[in-house]
Amino acid sequence: MAEEVSNKPVLLKNYVTGYPKEITGTEQRTMAEEVSNKQVLLKNYVTGYPKESDMEIIASSMKLKIPEGTQDEVLFKNLYLSCDPCMPGMTAYAGFYEVCSPKKGEYVYVSAASGAVGQIVGQLAKLLGCYVVGSAGSKDKADLLKNKFGFDEAFNYKEEPDLDAALKKVRMLNMRIRGRIAVCGMISQYNLDKPEGVHNLTSIIGKRVRMEGFLAGDFYHLYPKFLEMVIPYIKQGKIEYVEDVAEGLENGPTSLVGLFTDRNVGKQLVVVARE
Ligand SMILES: NC(=O)c1ccc[n+]([C@@H]2O[C@H](COP(=O)([O-])OP(=O)(O)OC[C@H]3O[C@@H](n4cnc5c(N)ncnc54)[C@H](OP(=O)(O)O)[C@@H]3O)[C@@H](O)[C@H]2O)c1
Repeated sequence: MAEEVSNKPVLLKNYVTGYPKEITGTEQRTMAEEVSNKQVLLKNYVTGYPKESDMEIIASSMKLKIPEGTQDEVLFKNLYLSCDPCMPGMTAYAGFYEVCSPKKGEYVYVSAASGAVGQIVGQLAKLLGCYVVGSAGSKDKADLLKNKFGFDEAFNYKEEPDLDAALKKVRMLNMRIRGRIAVCGMISQYNLDKPEGVHNLTSIIGKRVRMEGFLAGDFYHLYPKFLEMVIPYIKQGKIEYVEDVAEGLENGPTSLVGLFTDRNVGKQLVVVARE
């Protein structure tokens, strides 16, 4: 394989998860083809939340070919794009196991629980034998948490008849002694000029609560361990996942904006080509 790659351009025709497979000669012969090249460009300097009007789609053409004289380079074809650069499964694994050090029987609350990270955190917690409560921003999302992902309890934080009572279950004051809070994101705060504060922070003292932010990349060395655990669960149907798949690059701007406005359910992907 390495010898072939050094002299011939290689087209990656599949979305590869795991070990890559070889491609056929016919596909390599199509390499010099001129193809349409669609791009999403930012046309405005964006401050705050991005809008669809900040982006434009342009189309040009390009040749599928590797520049002459280069070695060990490959040309690949992407079938799917992710609207954000994160690895949700790995983030869920690192946040839950490494940052929170959970034990069987503990109580776990997951916010943004129908999101790409949240849905996996909740299922990992259930598999460990924890009691899991999740919140999400619509009835459909809350139903998904209970009916598809097996959360013990779920509520729609936007329509909770008694939001105060619901939040009492999950806010700082209700943390257990030596509780752990893993913080991977705060999407509602990313684009605010004045971020909101966290209330009742003093209670972390008496309750000896640990709150820790983290980046999934810090735990990248554990990726093989994560796969070893999660792949069998997926194959056995013990971990489910829901993706939000938009069709075509022209829907890229809408999908990106949707990330910040609760529109997506699960990992937001854009299919740029079906094959
Ligand atoms: N630290 C890391 O290494 C790392 C890695 C991956 C992700 N992250 C961060 O972790 C968070 C979750 O990631 P994800 O991939 O699960 O995201 P996701 O699938 O896009 O889900 C995020 C959820 O947040 C809620 N939301 C969106 N906009 C909101 C707003 N303005 N105010 C309040 N809630 C809003 C929505 O759920 P509801 O409709 O239920 O409110 C949405 O489904 C994000 O903030 C992401 O940036 C960090």
